[in-house]
Amino acid sequence: MYSDKVMDHFSSPRNVGEIENADGVGEVGNAHCGDIMKIYLKIEDEVITDVKFKTFGCGAAIATSSIATEMIKGKTVEEALKITNKAVVESLDGLPPQKIHCSVLAEEAVKAAIEDYQKKKAQ
Ligand code: FES
Repeated sequence: MYSDKVMDHFSSPRNVGEIENADGVGEVGNAHCGDIMKIYLKIEDEVITDVKFKTFGCGAAIATSSIATEMIKGKTVEEALKITNKAVVESLDGLPPQKIHCSVLAEEAVKAAIEDYQKKKAQ
């Protein structure tokens, strides 16, 4: 049911944790399943230099947040904003249909963290 990549990211998730004094923090949840995802960003000169996540959720939510952090690390804020849940699913070699919303959560968490960064920057 799950690809090797999903299993890999679920059993050894990358970039787990939190960043103290993060430049942007995004927390999103899915009211239906109750899962919560939080992403922390360190940003220097519009480049994401570090990213960590904490996910209280299903295995697919952990795998999608893990790969999403890998996908945006080293990218510019602008590039990271273009990450779609579809790209997340593709990077994991697919997800079962009932787990697609977990990838949407990952996309939303990245966007929420960037929005938080942009809001703080504008202050
Ligand atoms: Fe809701 Fe996976 S079941 S995020």
